[in-house]
Amino acid sequence: MKLQTHRTYNFNAGPSALPISVLEKAQAELIDFRGTGMSIMELSHRSNAYEEIHNQAIHSLKKLLCIPDHYEILFLQGGASLQFSMIPMNFLQSGKKAGYVMTGSWSEKAFIEAKLFGDVYHAASTKDDGYHSIPKVDELQYNHQDAYLHLTSNNTIYGTQWKNYPDTGDVPLIADMSSDILSKPFDVNKFALIYAGAQKNLGPSGVTVVIIRKDFLEQANTNIPTMLKYGIHAKNNSLYNTPPTFGIYMLGEVLNWASGLGGLDAISEQNDKKAKLIYDAIDASNGFYAGHAEPDSRSLMNITFNLKSKDLEKKFLDQAKQEGFVGVNGHRSIGGCRVSAYNAVPSEACKAFSEFMVQFQNSNS
Ligand SMILES: Cc1ncc(COP(=O)(O)O)c(C=O)c1O
Repeated sequence: MKLQTHRTYNFNAGPSALPISVLEKAQAELIDFRGTGMSIMELSHRSNAYEEIHNQAIHSLKKLLCIPDHYEILFLQGGASLQFSMIPMNFLQSGKKAGYVMTGSWSEKAFIEAKLFGDVYHAASTKDDGYHSIPKVDELQYNHQDAYLHLTSNNTIYGTQWKNYPDTGDVPLIADMSSDILSKPFDVNKFALIYAGAQKNLGPSGVTVVIIRKDFLEQANTNIPTMLKYGIHAKNNSLYNTPPTFGIYMLGEVLNWASGLGGLDAISEQNDKKAKLIYDAIDASNGFYAGHAEPDSRSLMNITFNLKSKDLEKKFLDQAKQEGFVGVNGHRSIGGCRVSAYNAVPSEACKAFSEFMVQFQNSNS
């Protein structure tokens, strides 16, 4: 049985749109997974059938992101939020400091957690300008003896995104890539650790991907709870305990879909075009729509903007909802409007929304 074709224009910030072909495949395989007579959720995580899916997902991620062999790929639970604590627990050794680049609410959360475990400071912050931008790479201030430097590659709430990453030399660079991993090519070699909750570009919620350089992993603290040690998960190929099997299966299917599209170059080109449709509507609006991000810091994943008054914004959001555009409200902490155009959001959805923006402006100015 095929899925009903009613699919909404889904601009949710996460969990967010998944590719229809992946959902259809999951549906087709749900009851009898590849002749096992069981669904993937009913298979033992120690079975050959499951292990094949697990290892294939690791292999596909490695291939798509060009991850060298001296990195481990882990599938963990607890969301990106648990990484905020696991990172300092494992790597913020006493006597050392860690710099955090503050570019929005998620950097703040990561900083607050790290402070519980050691000496942390702001390596740069754009808070005073309302998080409209990303700091310039040469403005970052950190010490060469630091345990690590942490940044958030894409700020899901404010709609800003790093365009290039610093070369931090001997200082291990750590990035929260929850909301833009897999959206464009980047050099993994610049990073000691990358983490991302899956629920935007990688699959459903419940899986967190961690990519960690092996020599960095070896420096981790050992006096922490077992489940919070990266080392134990690496040693056991993320099978120390029961992994989120269905989520990892979905992640593998999303990765297959992404390579079928032509990999990260093709995906990035598509994402540029999708975001441009919305930014063009903002830029051509003569201030009717005011983009939150400075143009050189604009996110291609989360496009944030405001209208002139709260009343007009409410009218816009109500009408967008009526027209079938879902998830356009800004994050509850800052309000406004946000279009999340992750990989699986089709360009037709962005085109339809940009047309709606123009129409709304014409009828309300
Ligand atoms: C950039 C970023 N980091 C961290 C998180 C928190 O992720 P989780 O809900 O998986 O803990 C989010 C969630 O939206 C996010 O966008």
